Amino acid sequence: MSQDNNKNAILTIDGKNFTLPVVRGTEGDKAIDISRLLQDTGYMTLDTGYKNTGSCRSAITYLDGNDGILRYRGYAIEELAEKCLFIEVAYLLIHGHLPNKTEFDDFKYLLRRFALLHEDMIHFFDHFPPNAPPMSILSVMVNSLCNYYPEMSDDPLENINMAATRLISKIRTIAAFSYKKSLGHPLVYPRPDLNYCGNFLNMMFDKPVHPYEVRPEVVAAVNKLLILHADHEQNCSTSTVRLVGSAGVNLYASISAGINALWGPLHGGANEAVVAMLEMIHADGNDFKKYIDKAKDKSDPFKLSGFGHRVYKTYDPRGTIIQEACDDLLSLLNISDPLLDIARQLEEIALNDDYFIERHLFPNVDFYSGIIYRAIGIPTNMFTVMFALGRLPGWIAQWKEQQEDPTTKIGRPRQVYTGEVFREFVPMKDR
Ligand code: CMC
Repeated sequence: MSQDNNKNAILTIDGKNFTLPVVRGTEGDKAIDISRLLQDTGYMTLDTGYKNTGSCRSAITYLDGNDGILRYRGYAIEELAEKCLFIEVAYLLIHGHLPNKTEFDDFKYLLRRFALLHEDMIHFFDHFPPNAPPMSILSVMVNSLCNYYPEMSDDPLENINMAATRLISKIRTIAAFSYKKSLGHPLVYPRPDLNYCGNFLNMMFDKPVHPYEVRPEVVAAVNKLLILHADHEQNCSTSTVRLVGSAGVNLYASISAGINALWGPLHGGANEAVVAMLEMIHADGNDFKKYIDKAKDKSDPFKLSGFGHRVYKTYDPRGTIIQEACDDLLSLLNISDPLLDIARQLEEIALNDDYFIERHLFPNVDFYSGIIYRAIGIPTNMFTVMFALGRLPGWIAQWKEQQEDPTTKIGRPRQVYTGEVFREFVPMKDR
């Protein structure tokens, strides 16, 4: 990031000119620095939903929504998804470079070592109702980690790498244990001989009466999905992690807040909503027109889940990779899912409809991911937990970057007040 000395923006307000510095990113992003605007002019900016607000400088993820480009630390998502292990990508996001053999072995060793949960924490699961939403459990459990591993409250910058590794390791144990508890099944502990994704699948699906076969093609599909979800610059949950972290809160509590933001159906919860929508269309005799019309009807809150994106105005590159992975996995497992055909037909109809064309609405990362999760046996209410497992290294990397940046300030937007002007207080007897 550099200040572009050759360029300034001139703003004229109340007959006076104000010069605002222009800053540029390494990939040519242009921004007008308005940080002194209120002080110098008495005016603030108003940007509901932050459609046009850069909240930070970041060197982690590059996203070009017009050309459908996504890169982590400069590497193309297509290449990372094809060639890397998820934990390699996690390391890349957090540390800024791909790990060499020694770094990778050390990271793997710690991930194995940290995989257990403190046994006291396991009792927490007994006190959630059986139908408690897994995202709520995940957020509570991650928040609770700071009580058992308080190193982050002592010296966050010193201990971040250890806490990050601990969290990446334990989150899959928490996720799998919450699933087992919801079924009333015995917990399956992590195994040192299995890799990150294989271990997670085994903890989810192994049963004393029916040992789980960890199939490499299933492990590969989960690995790819986690990589594709690993970071996406300043989305809603990541901005939440940063906002909470900017107040000086520890890593676990900040990530817990991010998990809650991800839960929403407009964000990570869309993967569950997509499958619910496809099932509804299926049950309705594949009446596509009805659902397309509903999505276009402004008086109807229904939207086509898994379609549209704040930044992408073309195909979401993650969606393209997931679609291919979905076809590959279903054919390898010899599964025919009617929802896949419905999704394909719905996509085709939407992409040829003027409403979707004019608004540049394309399938996003959530449109096909649920079909892969179904094929693997992940229950629908765990889909967003899978997203959280993937997004975790991105949240950590963004939190770390923010904490290490000496220019960081507490996040504190302003508002345009639209309430009552001053009123005299009325005692209760006179109201
Ligand atoms: N179905 C129907 N209309 C839509 C949709 C949709 N899925 N998405 C956007 N629109 C319309 C919207 O009504 C608006 O129309 P108009 O200009 O006539 O008012 C126009 O397209 C622009 O949409 P917007 O709501 O202003 O866009 P946004 O950037 O504020 O919202 C979004 C982005 C992702 C929340 C939205 O597209 C959406 O609700 N999609 C469905 C939920 C979804 O799939 N979310 C996952 C996003 S990707 C993964 C992630 O971030 O977690």
